[in-house]
Amino acid sequence: ITTQKIKDLTTTFKFGAAVKTANLKSESAYDNTFKGEYNQLSAEFEMKMNFIWNSETSYNFTNVDYLVNYAQQNNMTVHGHTLLWYQSFPDWFKNANYDSVAFESKVKVYIETVVGRYKGKIKSWDVANEIFNDDGTMRIESQIQGKFKDPIGFVGRCFKYAAIADPDAKLFYNDYNVVLAAGKRTAMKNMAIRFKNAGIPIHGLGEQFHYRISTSQTQINSGFADLVSSGLLIHLSEIDCKVNTTNSPTYVVNSTDLQKQSDFFKNIVKLYNAIPGNQKFAMTTWGITDKNTWLRDSGNGNKEYPLLFDENYGKKPAYVGFLDGL
Ligand code: XIL
Repeated sequence: ITTQKIKDLTTTFKFGAAVKTANLKSESAYDNTFKGEYNQLSAEFEMKMNFIWNSETSYNFTNVDYLVNYAQQNNMTVHGHTLLWYQSFPDWFKNANYDSVAFESKVKVYIETVVGRYKGKIKSWDVANEIFNDDGTMRIESQIQGKFKDPIGFVGRCFKYAAIADPDAKLFYNDYNVVLAAGKRTAMKNMAIRFKNAGIPIHGLGEQFHYRISTSQTQINSGFADLVSSGLLIHLSEIDCKVNTTNSPTYVVNSTDLQKQSDFFKNIVKLYNAIPGNQKFAMTTWGITDKNTWLRDSGNGNKEYPLLFDENYGKKPAYVGFLDGL
């Protein structure tokens, strides 16, 4: 197995992973793999609103501080994920049923408090995550659809609040299935154009990149080219690739599927590596080891192997595929 490291070869973009504080503290192999192999940190959940915002006036920054310090000590950058996400509004906030004015004023304070606290330390933020459906309409459960006459206008003001709190932070809109869903992609690009025309800073678009070995490479290629035509920074922000495509509880991992997964990684890295240098930001995997991927935690298939390291932190064919793509 290769002694080459992805992070040493990705000189034009960062190589990130989503991590959890508990694993960094409790497992040295996890900790060592992360700091040895990656140079950017995303928090898998600890920088989401429901983990930080305990009540209107109380914030819990313990784990965010830990992760930010950890990154500093290990020469990593930090990507903040995510300020606004319908799944992470705290219950107390949702239950309050604020009207649009109260809703926005609270969210504004939240953004100013969180982005301001980590000014210069968290160098990029997903300001909003998953507000669109695949067809480009707004998600009904987004919390902002129906509340605001112009929900996109509200999102734009949130970008502004973040930019005022940290003028140097790179601000992203993040979503999934972006390269496959033309409607969603167009909505994202149009939103970015609208923001630019209004003088609202938006620096990048994130495509989570949760796919599977059976996802059509041809479709990925054409959607990706269209995404890149936005001219913005591109973050492949939550990459993983399922091998157990039918979520079978009796699936047995095998070398054929792992090789397909390796090819998948090679292809996306090649695609990414070929984009203009000023649009490269980072490629981030959603986790490190197959052992504790969210695809196992969340019951999306208890037999799943979507990442670059196996359960024993061995480099999988997917890791070699990633290197080959560089
Ligand atoms: C997931 C995390 O992996 C879980 O640990 C958490 O409980 C729920 O969120 N899209 C996103 C991520 O933008 O924030 C999600 O992360 C996965 C899907």
